[in-house]
Amino acid sequence: MITAIENLQANRNGNASDDGETRVSAANTLLVRPTLVLGGTGKTGHRVVERLTGRGLPVRVGSRSVEPPFDWEDRATWEPALSGAGSVYLTYYPDLAVPGAVDAVGSLVDLAIARGVQRLVLLSGRGEDEAQRAEEVVQASGVDWTIVRSSWFNQNFSENYLRDPVLDGEVLLPAGGVREPFIDADDIADVAVAALTEEGHVGRVYEVTGPRLLTFADAVAEIAAATGREIRYVQVSPEQYASALTEHGVPAEFVWLLNYLFATVLDGRNAHKADGVQRALGREPRDFSDYARDAAAAGVWDVRALVGAR
Ligand SMILES: NC(=O)c1ccc[n+]([C@@H]2O[C@H](COP(=O)([O-])OP(=O)(O)OC[C@H]3O[C@@H](n4cnc5c(N)ncnc54)[C@H](OP(=O)(O)O)[C@@H]3O)[C@@H](O)[C@H]2O)c1
Repeated sequence: MITAIENLQANRNGNASDDGETRVSAANTLLVRPTLVLGGTGKTGHRVVERLTGRGLPVRVGSRSVEPPFDWEDRATWEPALSGAGSVYLTYYPDLAVPGAVDAVGSLVDLAIARGVQRLVLLSGRGEDEAQRAEEVVQASGVDWTIVRSSWFNQNFSENYLRDPVLDGEVLLPAGGVREPFIDADDIADVAVAALTEEGHVGRVYEVTGPRLLTFADAVAEIAAATGREIRYVQVSPEQYASALTEHGVPAEFVWLLNYLFATVLDGRNAHKADGVQRALGREPRDFSDYARDAAAAGVWDVRALVGAR
């Protein structure tokens, strides 16, 4: 698929396609105005930043730990982060399901458009009513939009709350036998970058999943095989899970969120694959076993290297 950037280069060489005017305008925006990547240090965000930067495109990271900082909880930070941006990769934190998230996304979208943003790519979640309401906000925005509606990330096991249990050799979850088509954050980033930089993805909803349905016990077994260590999946009740999280000092709002996700989103409603990666990129998504092999080789579950570092 021809990208807006390639079309601009073609136009400079005098051989742009017939609808080059619009594409060149979009390409110009991408070349001169930064993409604001919200959650730009997070699991999908940092991968989007790497890909855009690698193409020489201007990027602004949106997070509390950069300058200017962006904080969903402090609206005074939104304007400086959006200033001059041409497009936004919109990821909400911690989850579109939390109270107030849809209102916050709506306010951010309004401000972004008032400040001249022309393209929004929203990271959404499958099977969440609130996430779908956030999608509707973006779809009604009047600017170019793409929705990336995702299954659970592989990287939750290596870059998030499931990493410590894997390192401890025991993963307690109330997930039961539900099967989930875990997706790789690299695939999500590839879809997001395509949507941010190419013209063929405007107005599309990409439901993206991995190529295989796995139970959480299956996923843990694959990680155990990749690391050569014994790692057990332990089925617990939602109440036992909440108690264990609280004992480990997890704040009450995250305990609520994780229990909501396991009880509601993982009730079987998402136990099927979707073809968003194939539709957006024309290739198959990455398999969980490849992820587990590469993450193990990179040392993310290397207990010895982490002694004293946690
Ligand atoms: N994880 C999954 O399996 C999954 C699946 C489907 C959809 N999603 C969706 O993906 C989104 C991101 O979730 P994630 O778990 O993958 O997290 P993540 O993107 O890895 O989140 C971390 C990022 O959020 C930033 N952040 C944290 N608190 C913030 C705040 N108050 N204001 C602004 N930025 C903040 C962090 O930077 P700083 O700490 O520097 O601020 C970091 O860049 C959520 O909306 C979730 O619903 C996740």
